[in-house]
Amino acid sequence: VVETSLHANRPIVEGDRVHLQQVLLNLMLNGFDAMMRTPPSARMLTVATIGINSHVEIVVSDRGSGIPADALAEIFEPFVTTKPEGMGIGLSIARSIIEAHNGRIVAENNAGGGATVRFSIPVHQ
Ligand SMILES: Nc1ncnc2c1ncn2[C@@H]1O[C@H](COP(=O)(O)OP(=O)(O)OP(=O)(O)O)[C@@H](O)[C@H]1O
Ligand SMILES: [Mg+2]
Repeated sequence: VVETSLHANRPIVEGDRVHLQQVLLNLMLNGFDAMMRTPPSARMLTVATIGINSHVEIVVSDRGSGIPADALAEIFEPFVTTKPEGMGIGLSIARSIIEAHNGRIVAENNAGGGATVRFSIPVHQ
């Protein structure tokens, strides 16, 4: 299940539509991968947008395996992967794109299991 919880005011950002789509896609694919061993009935990905002052934050949460504790500090580095078929470049590209939009991106594990990756970018004034 993919659930969305989108900011009612639909804040406008200035940026590269295709690049930002690539960021969201990378985060969603990571969430899906992480839920491979989650029982199908418990698989849920949530995409939320939240307005925070001059920024909009996009939050992608899953109910997967969570990010291995020893990898948390380096998952945004290129070629860091825990997947047999992984390249380890999804989050590295995401971070480059978000930083090029004057934003930031962070990852954390959820208290109840799974992971959350969030990025924020300035709202167009
Ligand atoms: N939602 C998530 N849940 C658990 N672990 C995650 C999640 N997102 C990222 N990771 C961890 O971070 C690593 C790096 O992610 P990244 O997207 O950069 O590479 P990848 O998914 O392994 O390969 P690629 O994106 O290049 O196909 C993953 O291999 C995984 O260990
Ligand atoms: Mg990936």
